[in-house]
Amino acid sequence: MASHPTRVLFVCLGNICRSPSAEGVFATMVDKAGLGARIQTDSAGTADYHIGKSPDARAIAAAARRGVDLSVLRGRQVDVEDFYQFDYIIAMDHSNMEDLEAIAPSDASAQLHLFLEFAKNTDAVEVPDPYYGGDAGFEPVLDMIEDASRGLLNEIAPS
Ligand code: 4NP
Repeated sequence: MASHPTRVLFVCLGNICRSPSAEGVFATMVDKAGLGARIQTDSAGTADYHIGKSPDARAIAAAARRGVDLSVLRGRQVDVEDFYQFDYIIAMDHSNMEDLEAIAPSDASAQLHLFLEFAKNTDAVEVPDPYYGGDAGFEPVLDMIEDASRGLLNEIAPS
């Protein structure tokens, strides 16, 4: 592992549903593994709709049922500087990936990945956007996020 902490940025469209959920689930897993000093996490949106806002109340409630606190997180928009500050930038879907590729500097240090590349228990390649659905849509999203978080943690810090 690099001598500096490994920095991971999760990115979706709004930064109020999927990417804060991914940040919270992954950070909780990192803490439980005792790796909090070695792996740092953040999340951002490709859009500017929800800058400064808390995650969606449904995302907060669904994560809380799994022991993950999203309430302290606040939305921000991804920035070109992120491509130099982070080691991994993790997109939730292809649209996020395309938006990131469109602004990525040619000398970016961050590696760009689709989050579900790291998942073992799903054939899905994108984390679906639960924003326009009902509360129930957040459960399968969290299942995918937990699955991919385990794989990503094993990639960064093989056990
Ligand atoms: P997210 O979901 O990208 O998972 O945070 C969305 C949240 C808000 C909007 C779209 C997607 N929106 O259009 O406001």
